[in-house]
Amino acid sequence: MTKAFQAIRGMNDILPGESALWQRLEATVREVLAAYGYQEIRLPLVEKTELFVRSIGEVTDIVGKEMYTFPDRDGSDSLTLRPEGTAGCARACIEHGLLHHQTQRLWYAGPMFRYEKPQKGRYRQFHQVGVEAYGMAGPDIDAELICLSARLWRRLGIRDVVLQINSLGSSAARAAYRERLVTYFTARRAELDEDSQRRLNANPLRILDSKNPAMRALIADAPSMLDHLDPESQAHFEGLKALLDAAGIAYQINPRLVRGLDYYRQTVFEWVTDTLGAQGAICAGGRYDGLIEQLGGQAVPGIGFAMGLERLIAMLAAAGQPTVEPPHVYLIVAGAAAERQGLALAEQLREQVPALRLQMHCGGGGFKAQFRRADHSGARFALILGDNEIASQTVAIKALRAAASEQLTLPRDQVTTYLRAATLEEHPTTEPDTRG
Ligand code: HAM
Repeated sequence: MTKAFQAIRGMNDILPGESALWQRLEATVREVLAAYGYQEIRLPLVEKTELFVRSIGEVTDIVGKEMYTFPDRDGSDSLTLRPEGTAGCARACIEHGLLHHQTQRLWYAGPMFRYEKPQKGRYRQFHQVGVEAYGMAGPDIDAELICLSARLWRRLGIRDVVLQINSLGSSAARAAYRERLVTYFTARRAELDEDSQRRLNANPLRILDSKNPAMRALIADAPSMLDHLDPESQAHFEGLKALLDAAGIAYQINPRLVRGLDYYRQTVFEWVTDTLGAQGAICAGGRYDGLIEQLGGQAVPGIGFAMGLERLIAMLAAAGQPTVEPPHVYLIVAGAAAERQGLALAEQLREQVPALRLQMHCGGGGFKAQFRRADHSGARFALILGDNEIASQTVAIKALRAAASEQLTLPRDQVTTYLRAATLEEHPTTEPDTRG
């Protein structure tokens, strides 16, 4: 037998049983973003490799070992599947002049690609919704983005997340702090694990991110960035904390929060949970005021974050949110005449009851087999169209989930009213439909 194909490791199918939850998550995210005046931007999955190298930073894990990079077919360019969205979004804004004398609030969604070691919550193709705001230098926009994400958790019913914030200071303060860290860790080189020894000169801030318990005490004693902030960053950070306090948003200050991408300055933040195991960051971001200029645009401040949809889905699923939306109605069509008229009836009902989810039986078979399918579909009602109903221009309706299984027969023109009432019960906020 021919061996069947399997998906690429770390790249997952989202199956029919799961996609309803994804759609609900995406719809809620869209609503919340619209409520804050953010507009969608759709970006290519592939960019020039150099864009990511210059923005994320040459010595980061992402650029150093996680990018899917390949030459374009004509050999002219090195291309990369995007590992994140901030770089492409900045590139698009510069290219299309979106940042000239104006502020922008944007979001994007879609797959990102990183060659990481796959485990629960960490994949090679994963999905983000990213949010970016340009042209606003004060902490008010930092606070708005955090409020937006907090509102999203409330709307989704996600609890057990904690907000961690930190400031990385200005470029100069960050560079000076980097030197202090190198001095500190060099003096204790023997206590560093292999990973951290490698990072010591290339990217010493990332040592603070180490999850190795053996390094905990060493990291706890390291100098704190917050003691070395420049006055402007200090004021910005104080401003952000005051705004969060006023908005009633709880936070933890985590001076070890450094983030794995080099473009950050000043504010950085992460929403973390301990309910997902090792991969606990569900949403992360920060300010990147130098990035636009570094990519050839005018000097425009920027800040943003991205959330990992797989991790949010895992939290929603663990909270027992239903994953499939069953049809309201399964239409049973038995007999040649019913099969001929069933399709038209189904179309008419969908036209007249827009919220209705109606699944029509296809593929023939007797009543018994069709009832079994109806039951299996999870529908609340079976609509039955057989020879008797055709003769009397009626439709039979049977409640499939009721304790006593009632069946009633209605003239065709009353079926709409009946179903409209039934779907409105489920969607009490749906506007009543006034059409025929
Ligand atoms: P990031 O921290 O690399 O930041 O990713 C943001 C979020 O994406 C993470 O908190 C996590 O939820 C999710 N994520 C990252 N890698 C994976 C993976 N391999 N598998 C599953 N989920 C993952 C950024 O990407 C920045 N561009 C965020 C940003 C936007 N900063 C400013 N603007």
